[in-house]
Amino acid sequence: SNEEIKNLVDQEIGLIDPRIYSDQDLYEIELERVFARSWLLLGHEGHIPKAGDYITTYMAEDPVIVVRQKDGSIKVFLNQCRHRGMRIERSDFGNAKSFTCTYHGWAYDTAGNLVNVPFEKEAFCDKKEGDCGFDKADWGPLQARVDTYKGLIFANWDEEAPDLLTYLSDATPYMDVMLDRTEAGTEVISGMQKTVIPCNWKFAAEQFCSDMYHAGTMSHLAGVLSSLPPDVDLSQVKLPSTGNQFRAKWGGHGTGWFNDDFSLLQAIMGPKVVDYWTKGPAAERAQSRLGQKLPADRMVAQHMTIFPTCSFLPGINTVRTWHPRGPHEVEVWSFIVVDADAPEEIKEEYRRKNIFTFNQGGTYEQDDGENWVEVQRGLRGHKARSQPLCAQMGAGVPNKNNPEFPGKTSYVYSEEAARGMYHHWARMMSEPSWETLRP
Ligand code: FES
Repeated sequence: SNEEIKNLVDQEIGLIDPRIYSDQDLYEIELERVFARSWLLLGHEGHIPKAGDYITTYMAEDPVIVVRQKDGSIKVFLNQCRHRGMRIERSDFGNAKSFTCTYHGWAYDTAGNLVNVPFEKEAFCDKKEGDCGFDKADWGPLQARVDTYKGLIFANWDEEAPDLLTYLSDATPYMDVMLDRTEAGTEVISGMQKTVIPCNWKFAAEQFCSDMYHAGTMSHLAGVLSSLPPDVDLSQVKLPSTGNQFRAKWGGHGTGWFNDDFSLLQAIMGPKVVDYWTKGPAAERAQSRLGQKLPADRMVAQHMTIFPTCSFLPGINTVRTWHPRGPHEVEVWSFIVVDADAPEEIKEEYRRKNIFTFNQGGTYEQDDGENWVEVQRGLRGHKARSQPLCAQMGAGVPNKNNPEFPGKTSYVYSEEAARGMYHHWARMMSEPSWETLRP
C-alpha cells in the first residue's frame, strides 16, 4: 500500500529499508511514479547545436530521441515506432532530416510527425482515395515536455508536473557554481561516455547528493595520496574537515562541499585546473557573477544531485545521468563541461583529468563503483535485506546551519541531504497526485 511504501524511509529518525534498492515490485512503481513524473537530464545543448542534430538516449528505461528543431527549440519523443514498436532511430547521434524505421519503413520528421508510410494508399485505404480511416497524424510517437537550465536539457513525461525552474526549487544557486561562471555559459567537450555498474541507481544518486563522508574518510584516499607531488610528507597530509551540505527545501536535491582548502581538488585535477578555477580573471569574473548568491570561491570539490538522476561535480565538471536498468543495475552516461570561453589548454586539461579520475576508467569512478557493487551484491541475502540502514548522521546535531550559504545547510559530514532525497523519493512513490506533491 502507499502507506507501507512511505514507511520504507523514516527521514525523522534516519532509517532506510534496504529493500528500496533491490525489490523488483518497488522498481516497477519507481518507473511509473518517480521516473515518469520527474525532470530527467538528457544531455547538453552543445550535443545538438544545429537543426536536425539529434542524440538518442533514455528517460529511465524508455528510449527517446532528443532533436534540435529548425526554430532552435528541442523536441524529445519516444524512440518507438507506432507501427510495431521498433526504434525509430538506432544511431547514438547524428543529423537528420527525418527518421525512418528500419522494420517496415515508416518515416517521421524531426518534430516526431509520421510523414510517410510505405504502400499507405494501397494497404491502408481499401476504399476510394480520401476515405482511408487511417490518419498519419494519429500515429506520432509520445512527446515529452522539454526545458533547459543553463545548457542542460531536461525532459518530463508528466503534463501535471511543475515547470523545470519550480522543480529545481532553491537548488539553482548551487548548480550555477558550475553552469554560470561566465556569460558565455558552458561548452560540452566530450561525447557521451557510457558504462554499466551493477548497483541500484539510488546509491549513485545519493552519494552525489549527500556523501562527502566517503571522500573525507576512506574511499578515495589512495587516489588522493598517490596524486600528491613526491616531495609531500604523507604523514602530514590532512584531508579537509570543514565544509557544508545543502538540502533543497523541496524536490530531494542536495549538494555538499569543503570550504577553503583546495588541496583535495588539487590532488584530483592538478594545479592548472585549480589555478584556473580559483585565480585570475576567469575566477574573478565567476565570483562577481555568483557572489551575490553565495561565496562560490570558498567551495571545493562540490558534489550535487538534482533528483532523481542528474549528478555532477562542479570544479571537476563531470555531468552524468544514472539511467536505471532494473533494481540491480545502472547505466552511467556522462560528459564533461567547461566554461565556453576557457582557454583551449584548460579545456584539454579538463578532458585529460576527467579521463584519469571521474570517467569510466578513472581512478575515483572505480572507487565509487566498487563500493556500490559490493553493497548491491550483499543485498541478495535475505538477512541483509531485513535490517534497516542508518542514515542518521547530523540528525541530532542542531545549529549547524551556515548562513553564508543560501537555504538549509548543515555540516559537510551529514546525511541531511540524503534524508531529503529519500523523503522525496518516498513521497513520489506513495503520493499518486500532484495535488499533494507540488511544492
Ligand atoms: Fe516501424 Fe513497422 S515497426 S515500420
